[in-house]
Amino acid sequence: MLPQMLPRYLVNFDLTKLKIIYTDFLIVGSGIAGLYTSLKIHDKGKVILLTKGSLKESSTEHAQGGIAVALGDKDSPHLHMEDTLKAGANFCDPEAVEVLVTEGPECVEELIELGTKFDKIEGKYKTTLEAAHQRPRILHARGDATGAEIERSLSQKVINENKIKIKENILVIDILTEHTTCYGLLVLDSNTNKIIAYLARATILASGGAGQLFSNTTNPDVATGDGIAMAYRGGVRVTDLEFIQFHPTALYHQGSPKFLISEAVRGEGAILKNIKGESFMHSYHPLAELAPRDVVARAITDQMKKNKSDYVYLDATKIKDKFSQRFPTIYKNCITLGINPEKEYIPVAPAAHYTMGGIKTDTWGQTNLTNLYACGECTSTGVHGANRLASNSLLEGLVFGNRIARKIKKNITPSSIKKLEELKLSYNARQERYKEYNPVEIKKELQKLMWNKVGIIRNSFDLKKARQKISEWKFIFKLELKTAEDFELANLIILADLITNSALQREESRGAHYREDFPQRDDINWKKHIVY
Ligand code: SIN
Repeated sequence: MLPQMLPRYLVNFDLTKLKIIYTDFLIVGSGIAGLYTSLKIHDKGKVILLTKGSLKESSTEHAQGGIAVALGDKDSPHLHMEDTLKAGANFCDPEAVEVLVTEGPECVEELIELGTKFDKIEGKYKTTLEAAHQRPRILHARGDATGAEIERSLSQKVINENKIKIKENILVIDILTEHTTCYGLLVLDSNTNKIIAYLARATILASGGAGQLFSNTTNPDVATGDGIAMAYRGGVRVTDLEFIQFHPTALYHQGSPKFLISEAVRGEGAILKNIKGESFMHSYHPLAELAPRDVVARAITDQMKKNKSDYVYLDATKIKDKFSQRFPTIYKNCITLGINPEKEYIPVAPAAHYTMGGIKTDTWGQTNLTNLYACGECTSTGVHGANRLASNSLLEGLVFGNRIARKIKKNITPSSIKKLEELKLSYNARQERYKEYNPVEIKKELQKLMWNKVGIIRNSFDLKKARQKISEWKFIFKLELKTAEDFELANLIILADLITNSALQREESRGAHYREDFPQRDDINWKKHIVY
């Protein structure tokens, strides 16, 4: 979809008639990237942190496995870099990866100083192995509640800082721009149901990914890619959107949302088996259960197809002695659903997990718009390439959040508030709602379509069908949009279109993007990024 076919803004507005809130720094998102950036920048000005739900509703809260960082004697940033580049399928930006692995250890030390309690044994941090890591370098907390522990510690700090104001239940609608500068955001305040504007000297998007595009996902309901879609409408470059990571093992239980069964369970020794009880991973990759995530997800899909089943099993009975202690959250969830992982196999199937593409930034989190920065899952910094190495995402949020704060602090000028007060922006091109439609139903259909036609295994025929169906839903861009469901659906449709088009264009298979009609990687023609 070309930007000119889209409305620039999802709502009509006139800034002179709206309630405006001014601040120095406006941050969107309350996952690790948003919280950490707030804490790194509040000494230089007033921060407002906007979050769509409650403070702790984020993908970070659900992260289980941990955070990858080269801290041990037998490890090094160099080895971590090697693994990241290899998993990324020759598609990472080596400069960005170097930043990630070399600055990561210091950021993690600071996370610990900020109160995050990683698991220890005899005074030393415990580390575990995950797929495609040559060293056990994954720090974890409360067994499998790493993200929740990080959210707990960082949100506590943020709540206690006077200069950081948290605004919950705020759905961002659009970035406010004039020429190539961003001045803040237009938002729906769901507490009052009013549209208001936040104007800031710098706006930082840490708004997360778009797992909700797919009917099977490990992501929370809030992961609808709003930040990426609105940035695109505002003229920000977005890239690599065809690379969606599918996690191999989400709990399969009919009627329950997909719950992540951490890769660390395989890292500790659990084995995948098909419904006949046969282990199969060794016939797909020499690293078997610990092969890169895309390889494992496709192997499981293949086994499901061959055996006409909707799931495979994860056999963790070999690690029964430590399971409940090492994975208390997973254990509790399985038991609630009547599955005892110490005694029986866990039914699992792949699910959409991570959006590797997104807002294009440089290694300082800068987008192509002045005063607009981005970090975390909504970005494409280049560190993940075509397939993110397990547990690199929490680290990415820290490292690039920190860099944004450093960059803004260096360039800060006191003068820009005046410009904000003089800003006169308006938009009046949207039509009245002319027909009733059901955003919730369309969202469900879209999610199914994306799973079936733009999922783990893709081909030209299915992608074209998906594109056609998605274009039928574009009628909503002509309507007056009002509710959170309207805005989220608009964002999902835009992203679905971009992802499908990118997947169709990329006539090769690389990392998480697999085309059965072009099954080989093609470095000659396709070692290039699709940028919108
Ligand atoms: C997991 O625990 O398997 C997820 C870790 C990640 O996605 O990096």
